[in-house]
Amino acid sequence: MRRKLLVGNWKMHFTTHQASLLVHKLAEQVPVHRDVEVVLCPSFLALQSLSLQISHRQFKLGAEDCDWRDEGGYAGEVSATLLSGLVSYVIVGHSERRNVFREPHVDTRKKVQAVLRNGMKPILCVGETASERANGETRHVLHDQVVSGLANVTSEEIKDVVIAYEPVWAIGTGNSANPDDVEKAVKHIRKDVASLYGPEAEMGLRVLYGGSSSAENAVAYMSVKGIDGLLPGGASLHADQFAAMAAAMHSSAQEERGI
Ligand code: PGA
Repeated sequence: MRRKLLVGNWKMHFTTHQASLLVHKLAEQVPVHRDVEVVLCPSFLALQSLSLQISHRQFKLGAEDCDWRDEGGYAGEVSATLLSGLVSYVIVGHSERRNVFREPHVDTRKKVQAVLRNGMKPILCVGETASERANGETRHVLHDQVVSGLANVTSEEIKDVVIAYEPVWAIGTGNSANPDDVEKAVKHIRKDVASLYGPEAEMGLRVLYGGSSSAENAVAYMSVKGIDGLLPGGASLHADQFAAMAAAMHSSAQEERGI
């Protein structure tokens, strides 16, 4: 059984002090379960201090982005090399990187490779915009993003890759996607991975849903076939919401095992 994965994307919120306060609350509210992995992605600034604060049995750390170059004269950037040893996961190709910062496919691909090269796990985000959806292009967009993001990833490396399906129109809007539509999208993503790497790689692949996921809809998404976890933004800023999502994930794992 694939281990469930809950990833909180805090984005550009919280000072290091506020981040520490939230972790303090989370430490009390999120029990350790072997079947659920809980990852916190604060701003780069808070990573070092949180790494000293968290119990690494309870939480793992992730970065929200990285630069694909290992080092050099790139003012303001943080490379995967600089993050290695500090985080376990790096979110790559988030829609805000792709759409607000105009990050092209080729950079996303290089970031996936940089994260793997530096011994961490990339969470590759894919998803269609509202207009792509309205034009019936969802399938095509997802295919492009998956194939391009995974280009040059070896069949050994694919084991460390997580893919997050995040429809752009659902992010930060409160308009979460219909679970039936999520199921269709995830099926396509899994099919693409199976045709690139074979059925075994697809079986091992963890796929997350993100886009206005919350404590209220967590159970519904965790029941979607092919979904292994969630990537909340807004809901991850509230300890009680995030803890409830972790609990939903544990219940879903138990249900799968017939407990
Ligand atoms: P949201 O963000 O849960 O606030 O919609 C999700 C994301 O951007 O990953």
